[in-house]
Amino acid sequence: MERIVSGLTTTGTLTIGNYLGSIKQLINNGGKYEQFLVIADLHGITVPFLPENLTKNSVDLASFLIACGLDVSSNHIFFQNQVIQHSELSYILVCHTTVGELLRMTQYKEKSEKFKLKNKTNTVPSGILFYPTLMAADILLYDAHFVPVGKDQKQHLELTRNIATRMNNKYGEVFKIPEFVTQPRLSKIMSLTDPTKKMSKSSEDKNSYISVLDDASTITKKIMRAKTDSENRIYYDVTHKPGISNLITIYSGFSNLTIEETLKKVANLDYGSFKKQLSSLLVSKLTPIQERFKIITETMEWKKVTQKGLRIASSVAVEKLLSVKDKIGLV
Ligand code: TRP
Repeated sequence: MERIVSGLTTTGTLTIGNYLGSIKQLINNGGKYEQFLVIADLHGITVPFLPENLTKNSVDLASFLIACGLDVSSNHIFFQNQVIQHSELSYILVCHTTVGELLRMTQYKEKSEKFKLKNKTNTVPSGILFYPTLMAADILLYDAHFVPVGKDQKQHLELTRNIATRMNNKYGEVFKIPEFVTQPRLSKIMSLTDPTKKMSKSSEDKNSYISVLDDASTITKKIMRAKTDSENRIYYDVTHKPGISNLITIYSGFSNLTIEETLKKVANLDYGSFKKQLSSLLVSKLTPIQERFKIITETMEWKKVTQKGLRIASSVAVEKLLSVKDKIGLV
């Protein structure tokens, strides 16, 4: 079975953007691929964090993935820090990467600027710089065929491919070169308060995103307040009507209808009624997942599932790292 590697960082709660953009895709792949789902807690410590939040975010993330109904026989959910080969391979990759390549990463530039501004300092944690080589290790350890990531991660995947190719040229066949799978355009969910920006869990403005764990009244409140326009006519036009178009996209994602089918259903509504319908749709889809989530955290089922994930991921990672070390001449 071909392999997919996907990673979710532990910085903050999951949003409906993560759900529609990547998790739903992973569920739809069910059974077609063997999927290694990395709870990227080591990526989570590249920026300042509180230990108790790190623990909670990591456990919540694993529990949520399980609650979504991912089939645990073909999906291996595990904590990145527990498969120690990620850190070790990451170091070897760092030694095959130039500082210039890392400094050129758009995400590095954005994150470091943000960090400097926020902390009124001139220097940044080096974890932000080495983020992409850790991500490359996540991917290359499992000989992934495909990596489904959003546009913002494409540059990191290009770098992964470059490092892997460079090492293959130097040492013979070390790594499989992974393919990038683009997300369908539809699944990019924008901020509710500024629909020209991507919905982000790290945003300071809690009204800009919906967490997958938000309760019914919070979801409704956030949708009702979502920024639209004054035309009060529903049609899809991302350039002129980014707010309404974003809500249509969310409706389409949660109802499994295409944009056209969604428009047939909602085009005659005024904004208020549309937002009400959208809120109840979200609540009806998220509530059952949240109920399962609650049971999984209470019974600690996440522990069993991630222990199984750890066993399988480790068995692959141990072999792979040994073969990499052997090829580059480490005794
Ligand atoms: N950097 C990715 C993101 O921010 C998360 C991630 C970590 C990842 N490791 C990965 C994605 C490995 C794909 C494969 O979305």
